[in-house]
Amino acid sequence: MSLERLQKILAQAGLASRRQAEALILAGRVQVNGQVSQSLGARADPELDRIELDGQLIQAREKLGYYMFHKPAGYLTSLADPQNRPTVKVFLKKLPIRVYPIGRLDYDVSGLLILTNDGELARRLMHPSFEVPKLYRAQVRGVLTPERLKRLSSGQILIEGKPAAPARARLLTSGPDRGWLELVLTEGRHRQVKRMCAAVGTPVEVLKRLGYGGLRLDPNLQPGDIRPLKGQEILTLKAQAQLT
Ligand code: URA
Repeated sequence: MSLERLQKILAQAGLASRRQAEALILAGRVQVNGQVSQSLGARADPELDRIELDGQLIQAREKLGYYMFHKPAGYLTSLADPQNRPTVKVFLKKLPIRVYPIGRLDYDVSGLLILTNDGELARRLMHPSFEVPKLYRAQVRGVLTPERLKRLSSGQILIEGKPAAPARARLLTSGPDRGWLELVLTEGRHRQVKRMCAAVGTPVEVLKRLGYGGLRLDPNLQPGDIRPLKGQEILTLKAQAQLT
C-alpha cells in the first residue's frame, strides 16, 4: 500500500467529504499512531498506520476487484480440501487483493470463473432469482437424439425431486457413440449439467463453462490465467445483478 493524504483516507472510508475531512484535520480531531495530525499535507498508509477520528479507529474500505479466471480441470473451487487435493487458491494468491470465486465448478470441470471481493455482486449473481445464464459445452457418451435434446430443455428433468428449470440445449456434433452440445442454464444446482445429461441417458465425459452472466471466456486466456475484467464487463455483470 502507499502513502495517501489524510483527507483522502477519511473520504475513502466514507466518513466525510474531502473538504469536511480537511476541517476535521485542522480541528485536531484526527490522530495518526497516537499523535494529533493537524497538517493538511500529512500522509499515512491506511493499511499500516493507526488512524483515528475522535479516538475511533478508521477502517480503510477495501478496494474492489473483478477478474476473469480460466479454471483448469483438476482443481477444486473451494479454498481448502480435507483430502488435500489442489485448489484454485494457488492461482488466486498471485493477485494483489484477496478475491473469491462466484459460484463453483467441479474438480474435473474447466472454464470461466469470475473472481471478486464485491460481496453484494457475488451474493446477487449466485441467488437463483437473478437467473444468471451460464453457458456450458459438454462432450457426452451416447447419441444426442432430438428427443434427448428436447428433454434437456424441457424443464421436466427432476433433480432431487425438484424439476430443473428450462434450459437451452443446442447440438454441436453427434457421432455414433458420443456427441457435443451446448447448454445454457439459469440455475446453479450442484453438478447440474452432469445430472441432467445423465438423466437423459447421455453421461458427461468432458465439461467446460464458456459463459457466465453475459460474459464469454476470453479465448486468449489459457487454463490457469487470470485477467482483470474490463469496465464494460463489470457493468454487464452489475446489470445482470440489477446493481447499476
Ligand atoms: N454442472 C456440473 O455438472 N458441474 C459443474 O461444475 C458446473 C455445472
